[in-house]
Amino acid sequence: MEKYTTHYFKTASDYTVSVGFDWRLGLFDVLGSIAHARMLSTQKIISKEDSLLIIEGLEKIHDEIVNNAFEWKEDLEDVHMNIEQRLFELIGEPAGRLHTARSRNDQVATATRLYLRNALDEIAKRITIFQQVILGLAEKNLDAVMPGYTHMQRAQPILFSHHLMAYFEMLSRDYLRLIDCRERVNVSPLGSGALAGVPYPLDRDMVAKELQFQDVSKNSIDAISSRDYIVEFHATASILLMHISRLAEDLILWSSSEFGYIKFGSEWVTGSSMMPQKRNPDFAELARGKTGRVYGNLLNILVITKGLPMSYNTDLQEDKEALFDSVETVIKTLDVFSEMLKSLEINNDRMLSAASDPTMLATDLADYLVNKGVTFRRAHEAVSAVCERSRDSGIPLMDLPLSDYKKFNQAFEQDVYDVNLHTSVDARNVVGGTAKKRVSESLKFASQVLAKRR
Ligand code: ARG
Repeated sequence: MEKYTTHYFKTASDYTVSVGFDWRLGLFDVLGSIAHARMLSTQKIISKEDSLLIIEGLEKIHDEIVNNAFEWKEDLEDVHMNIEQRLFELIGEPAGRLHTARSRNDQVATATRLYLRNALDEIAKRITIFQQVILGLAEKNLDAVMPGYTHMQRAQPILFSHHLMAYFEMLSRDYLRLIDCRERVNVSPLGSGALAGVPYPLDRDMVAKELQFQDVSKNSIDAISSRDYIVEFHATASILLMHISRLAEDLILWSSSEFGYIKFGSEWVTGSSMMPQKRNPDFAELARGKTGRVYGNLLNILVITKGLPMSYNTDLQEDKEALFDSVETVIKTLDVFSEMLKSLEINNDRMLSAASDPTMLATDLADYLVNKGVTFRRAHEAVSAVCERSRDSGIPLMDLPLSDYKKFNQAFEQDVYDVNLHTSVDARNVVGGTAKKRVSESLKFASQVLAKRR
């Protein structure tokens, strides 16, 4: 079998080369370099002519990257050296002045922060779109009643829209976490040099302003060696995907024959290679599975940075693949979920019939007794006994004769039969409850929340 074995090790530099993945920083690296070159000339550290040549060359490189015409070369190790080498090809010797007062250490930190800031904005936009879809689905199905579950057992009837809006709330917090993380990402490390700062009269604020950074870093050692903003991103992404994964699990269950509450659009399911009847919810399952990768990426950066001596160490180059992976996984998953949710068919009848399970009215029967003056504990005992009677006799809870009810508590009267799933839902008329009035309010509030973001 040896001939099937991949040859993992070709040359020593295979091990250190990063351009195979860090090319993703290319455009951001160029932007950082343009700002740096402009500032160097303003501060008279390099000549105006050299700076213009450099910027012109970098703009050409920018276009080459955008048009997929830039040739990334493995032997040039990383994204930064590839771009610098190309600049030499384009403008010759003046290219050598770009790296004045800069190290790859503050350069990579800058490019990574710009990349992540951009990614955060893309993700935030998509969370909002996803929330709009959830809100739309909830509005369209405001009245649908379904069983609410605790411990995976039918608990109390709820509105399907209320269940959906639980995810809206989770995503609102995810959005805020992203925005909060962005603040700490949005700081310029340029000017930190290798670790100690640089012996040139830089205008760090000018660079920061051009790159739309909110602030400049206050300690050069921290600036080039800290990656806690990446940890924060992974943590935020992990929580976001944990939420999506729970939704995925709900959807998978609901689409099974056992539940039958929803149907995915045909583009979101696949057949089985063996069983012709299958409609597998692959996209939802993959989102649930990919959540594991994102958690893994969080652990990756935590372990890389734990015990790392000050200041920059090449270990830090290993922060990137995981970062790109989480960013791309989150963006694709949000895109998939927004589209997939639009394709859902809701089976109101199946939900309603499951929600009509009379045992779910047990709490309401206890509340009924409380309204007649019984203490909640006594009411709970009486209804437990009524439920047991129903189970033993095989007579559905709401079909037991009044005499049976009365055996367990004299406060039961004829109007006990007015209790039904609709009165149950409507009774939960507290802020945050499942009564239609409250859910309608929450839908209105949610659309205001989204409108404010724009
Ligand atoms: N590719 C490197 C990284 O990702 C760039 C910084 C290299 N700095 C150094 N001193 N070797 O971290």
